[in-house]
Amino acid sequence: MAVGWITFHITDRCNLDCHHCLRDPELRPKDLPVALIRRVLGEAREKYGSDHTAFSGGEPTLHPEFGAVVDAAVDQGFSWHMVSNGHGFPAVLELLGARPERLAGLTSVSFSLDGATAGVHDAIREKGSYEEVLRAASVCMASGVKFVLQMAVHAKNEHEVEAMGLLASQLGANRLSFTLTQPTGTHHDRDHYLSPAAFRRVLARIERLRDALTLPVGVPEGWYTEQPFHVCQPFASQQLHVDLQGRVNLCCQHSGIPGDGSDRDIAGDLNVMSLTEAHRRFVRLVHDAQEAKLDAIERGEIGDWDHFACNWCMKHFGKPHWIDDGVGGPPAARQRWRGAWEKRNRLPIVS
Ligand SMILES: C[S@@+](CC[C@H](N)C(=O)[O-])C[C@H]1O[C@@H](n2cnc3c(N)ncnc32)[C@H](O)[C@@H]1O
Ligand code: SF4
Ligand code: SF4
Repeated sequence: MAVGWITFHITDRCNLDCHHCLRDPELRPKDLPVALIRRVLGEAREKYGSDHTAFSGGEPTLHPEFGAVVDAAVDQGFSWHMVSNGHGFPAVLELLGARPERLAGLTSVSFSLDGATAGVHDAIREKGSYEEVLRAASVCMASGVKFVLQMAVHAKNEHEVEAMGLLASQLGANRLSFTLTQPTGTHHDRDHYLSPAAFRRVLARIERLRDALTLPVGVPEGWYTEQPFHVCQPFASQQLHVDLQGRVNLCCQHSGIPGDGSDRDIAGDLNVMSLTEAHRRFVRLVHDAQEAKLDAIERGEIGDWDHFACNWCMKHFGKPHWIDDGVGGPPAARQRWRGAWEKRNRLPIVS
């Protein structure tokens, strides 16, 4: 088993404020320094032989030195991919095209599309957002950049799962991916809630869709598994995640969302330690979590929601998680409304 890739949460800036988002729009925006990304990738290359990396956020393309972030990867021989909301993508493509190595190293862009129709997607994200993603997809098609469509599924959009299959095929996507939406502790959670049985019915529909399409259909970690002792890719060290503060934490689902204050899902700070040291601490943290799961299995304390690995994980680490009648765990210490941070605080941005 090898470290597959490191995902960097490179910025918390965003031009949207999606209802389901893990990001806290009231935090002062911050960017991960390019020097840290470069150094950590160098270590990953040297120690693990890694050759691929990924960028997420916030909206990664809004990192003020986004070109330099990509260069930190491609200059060291890494290929890369990113998750983006697709806004202003023609300009992003232009920035990437300024150095051929940047595009040559880009394996794919995952665009978030949370509905097959503008009505559904824009209600979750923002008016005009659906058109932006469609434009992004068409410029990718025109310039030969592979793209994936990624939907975070919940009660507000699950009825469009099949239509997403058709749309992704028509747009020429290379893959379609369905993520199970985790709660974030805000009032929006109650509108997103589906019961375990309902999420399982959605999964069955996604599996039927997968059989019907030639386009690959992915279901990342988080969906129901029969076996309660499930080892996800981060738990197997196949993916490491670096949060906005430069700390190795469990994965993007834990990154920046409200917790019980214990920060138990953070393994080590790369500002003050090597990647291998942070990884060593990460392995211990995962070991403890797996032991706790085994204890729960032994005691017969596994409920329906515990078969959804990410939900159990979020609960174990003191984060918001689905429960039988709604949401458990700490509430977000903020309201969610579009542009909240910018409207309230006009402080300078720090990096
Ligand atoms: C946090 S965003 C960052 C990248 C970019 N801003 C975007 O929206 O694609 C990465 C992915 O996480 C998904 N996401 C956000 N909140 C989520 C949640 N509560 N549960 C599951 N996925 C979530 C988004 O829909 C998006 O596909
Ligand atoms: S999910 Fe929406 S609000 Fe969250 S980072 Fe992506 S675009 Fe921004
Ligand atoms: S939330 Fe936990 S179980 Fe899910 S992918 Fe992340 S580390 Fe793995």
